[in-house]
Formats: sequence, structure tokens, C-alpha cells
Amino acid sequence: MIQFFVCLMAITFAAQGAGQFFSFAPDITKATSATLKVTRLLDHIPDIDIWSPEGKNVDQLENGQIQFRNVHFTYPTRPDVAVLRGLNLDVKPGQYVALVGASGCGKSTTVGLIERFYDPIMGDILVDGVPVSEYNLAEYRKSISIVSQEPTYPPSRINLTTDFIKGRFALIFY
Ligand SMILES: Nc1ncnc2c1ncn2[C@@H]1O[C@H](COP(=O)(O)OP(=O)(O)O)[C@@H](O)[C@H]1O
Ligand SMILES: [Mg+2]
Repeated sequence: MIQFFVCLMAITFAAQGAGQFFSFAPDITKATSATLKVTRLLDHIPDIDIWSPEGKNVDQLENGQIQFRNVHFTYPTRPDVAVLRGLNLDVKPGQYVALVGASGCGKSTTVGLIERFYDPIMGDILVDGVPVSEYNLAEYRKSISIVSQEPTYPPSRINLTTDFIKGRFALIFY
């Protein structure tokens, strides 16, 4: 008789425990697939890799001459819209340049390509005569001083000397 009750209780509690555990099964599946996605993302090495130790040292980047040679560009997420179609641009060291055009004509895109957020699909972007893709990316970006369209602090608080001339070659307002 005692054995019967021991077995009954063991089975009942075990079934309860199992039931509680398996109620988390959907969450376990979601967590596993989410973890897989995150680890895959972390392991992925992008074409434009900020952590890459490769590439030319920017010590050679002295003047800051910027050249666009027949640059064609399309955003990967919108392959049907050609943003730049054969852009040629030559910015000499120390020269001030204003890119003027209607909203959406590609001004920010041009600056983004100088920062190397994307590579052009055709043509070359050269800084001091060297394609930007050949520089060490982290060092190259450190050499650029930039104020974007919507700075988080008011322009009156920008100190040109301490904030921006630290970069080696460019002061870009866009
Ligand atoms: N991240 C993006 N992905 C897809 N299309 C974009 C992206 N950024 C801008 N565009 C498109 O590229 C074109 C040029 O945009 P942009 O360079 O921001 O213009 P501007 O700075 O001259 O106003 C626009 O048609 C815009 O919609
Ligand atoms: Mg813009």
C-alpha cells in the first residue's frame, strides 16, 4: 500500500515538474534562435571592417586632397535607385567646397562615401591620391573631422580649434 502511494506521489510531482518545465518550451526555442542570430551577427566580418588591422597607415595622409573619379553609387537596400551617376570631384588641399542641390540629390551620400560607410559600385574615391579602401579604416576615420547635419550641440559651442582641427584633413559641414 505504502509503495503505491510513494509511486503515485512521485509520478504526480514529476508530471507537475515536467509540465512546468515544458511550458517554457516556446521561450526556449525563441531564445535559442535569437542567440544564434546574435552570435552569427557578431561573427560576421563585414566588407568594410572597422576592426581590421589591415590597410595603409594614415601617416601618409598629409594634404587631404579628395578626388571622386566617375563614381557610381546605389544603396544596397535600394538597388533600383542610382544615387550617384558618374560623379567627378576634385577638392584641393585647403579648398572650401559647397555641395549644393535639392534634398535627396546625394550630398550626404557623397560625404558618407568619403567616410567610407559604403564603397562605390564603380569608380574611385581617392584621398591624397590613394583609394580610401586602401587605408586602415579606423585610423582613416579618426583623421576626418566632421559636423553632421544635425549636431547634438548648438553651433555656438563648437570650438573649431579643439573640436575639429584635430583631424588631419577635412572639415565638413553638411
Ligand atoms: N541609407 C539609405 N538607404 C537607401 N537609400 C538612401 C539612404 N540614404 C539616402 N538614400 C537615398 O539616396 C538619395 C540621396 O540621399 P542623400 O544623399 O541623403 O541626399 P541629400 O543629402 O542631398 O539630401 C535619396 O533618394 C535618398 O532617399
Ligand atoms: Mg543630406
